[in-house]
Amino acid sequence: MKILNFGSLNIDYTYAVSDIALPGQTVAASKMDKNVGGKGLNQSVALARAGAKVCHAGKIGRDGDMLREYLASCGVDVSLVKYSDKPTGNAVIQVNSRGENSIVVYGGANRDITEADAASALEHFSAGDMLLIQNEITCTRAIAKAAKARGMSVALNPSPLDGLEVDMSDVDILILNENEAKTLLGTSVPEEIEAALPRINPGMRVVMTLGSRGACHIGGGIVYVAAQKVTAVDTTGAGDTFTGYFLSEICAGKSPEAAMKWASRAAAISVTRHGAAASIPKREEL
Ligand code: RIB
Repeated sequence: MKILNFGSLNIDYTYAVSDIALPGQTVAASKMDKNVGGKGLNQSVALARAGAKVCHAGKIGRDGDMLREYLASCGVDVSLVKYSDKPTGNAVIQVNSRGENSIVVYGGANRDITEADAASALEHFSAGDMLLIQNEITCTRAIAKAAKARGMSVALNPSPLDGLEVDMSDVDILILNENEAKTLLGTSVPEEIEAALPRINPGMRVVMTLGSRGACHIGGGIVYVAAQKVTAVDTTGAGDTFTGYFLSEICAGKSPEAAMKWASRAAAISVTRHGAAASIPKREEL
């Protein structure tokens, strides 16, 4: 099974602050880092570090070569990363002294993806392969529909939820957090989500991350796994780490419970380190 991750590529500017700036407030940062990021890129890195074979499709500007080079250095196939005339996407991230963050994303080249780009990327994939998408690029609805039409399975991490266009009937695996579940599915209560699945998409399974309480898998019953207790210094990219590791294990034939346990371990390690992609552990570290 081949995995195509059609996703965002960002340059992250991360500012260490005591407290995240409130409206009207100016705060001083004790440190600023420029690094690779984007939910798409982070999830490709997590998949590759987990041991999966992944091809990343997406767009960068002429200023974004560092993103393609970083992905390639992680073993990700970057032949479907193309150039746009728009500047590379970027994110301004504040991380406070408790490791919590606040993120502003500028889409740039990530918002220059067209149906023609989707068609040419998907030509390389067929029935039995998996498509992974997040919600930081344009054309997600068409990409998911085209992948489904080819017989691929579709995994969606709908972050950030703003303006999500994907048709839920095209999704096989939905990976989201509790806040996203409340907005998208109307509830974050696992039993209520399970009861709603026949109406939303009877074939879809849901993986809901529960922060420091772990994660649960909903569909054909409800399975919980606990999180590891760690001291977080930066939670940026923890969800991406979980998603990549979870899908890598599922593609390797593991049960949802085993995949969630492994993904939770990887995410726990990632929050003890600074940065997004940089904080994602390699398989041997687990
Ligand atoms: O999930 C973390 C990511 O969100 C960051 O790397 C940033 O680029 C934003 O897309």
